[in-house]
Amino acid sequence: MPNKSQINLKTLPKHVAIIMDGNGRWAKSKGKLRVFGHKSGVRAVRETVEAAAELGIGYLTLYAFSTENWNRPKYEINALMKLLVSSISKETKTLIKNNIRLSTIGDVNSLPKDCRKELDETMKITANNTRMQLNLALSYSSRWEIVDAVKQIVTDIKAGNIKADNIDEELFGSYLDSSHSPNPELLIRTSGEYRISNFLLWQIAYAELYFTDKLWPDFGKEDFYAAILDYQQRERRFGKTSEQLTEA
Ligand code: FPP
Repeated sequence: MPNKSQINLKTLPKHVAIIMDGNGRWAKSKGKLRVFGHKSGVRAVRETVEAAAELGIGYLTLYAFSTENWNRPKYEINALMKLLVSSISKETKTLIKNNIRLSTIGDVNSLPKDCRKELDETMKITANNTRMQLNLALSYSSRWEIVDAVKQIVTDIKAGNIKADNIDEELFGSYLDSSHSPNPELLIRTSGEYRISNFLLWQIAYAELYFTDKLWPDFGKEDFYAAILDYQQRERRFGKTSEQLTEA
């Protein structure tokens, strides 16, 4: 099993993003309802947040609810929202104690009122925390985020705040909902699926992708360390050759 001491703390990714997948299948394999899988997934969230903060990761983004998830059965959506509210409420103290700032990406206005209220309160209380930023992607999809950025840019062009000629990658990125965080260097997906599922499409242009067969409720600290170790063994070339990298 991978060990924390094998990790080089000097070459950690600044930002790790995770597609938490497999709650439903995990529950089914135990003869339980899907909602039981989501509840069990909260333990994995807690362990992963702890592991990331302890290592010194700066930003952790978790895909908790996608725009497409609104198409799930109503009872599952309600259960997920309830779980979100209760988890945030329960974990606020721990976030404060561990100096972790909570933030969101996504169309949070589409979330139920009690959910928004809980999020707003915790985001406010943790706003000045500096150890790690925990971003929850809620009612999020990358295409939504990109289209929303385009709309805001058009509004600003019409208002004379920016010129179309000045649009470049940096300016475009600054209009994205996730502009409060750097681009992730590592994207992890659990449950043996090899898809990106409309997650951070712009931001993962150069990210390393790591897939594991573990279903999300079984994911723990050791699995997070394994992903970081795998990342640290990769050569990130950004279009250059290996030789250019060693010369630099
Ligand atoms: C994917 O599994 C998981 C989700 C859609 C929800 C993730 C939510 C949690 C882990 C609980 C609460 C989160 C926080 C941040 C407190 P799936 O249902 O798609 O599983 P399947 O692919 O096996 O059906």
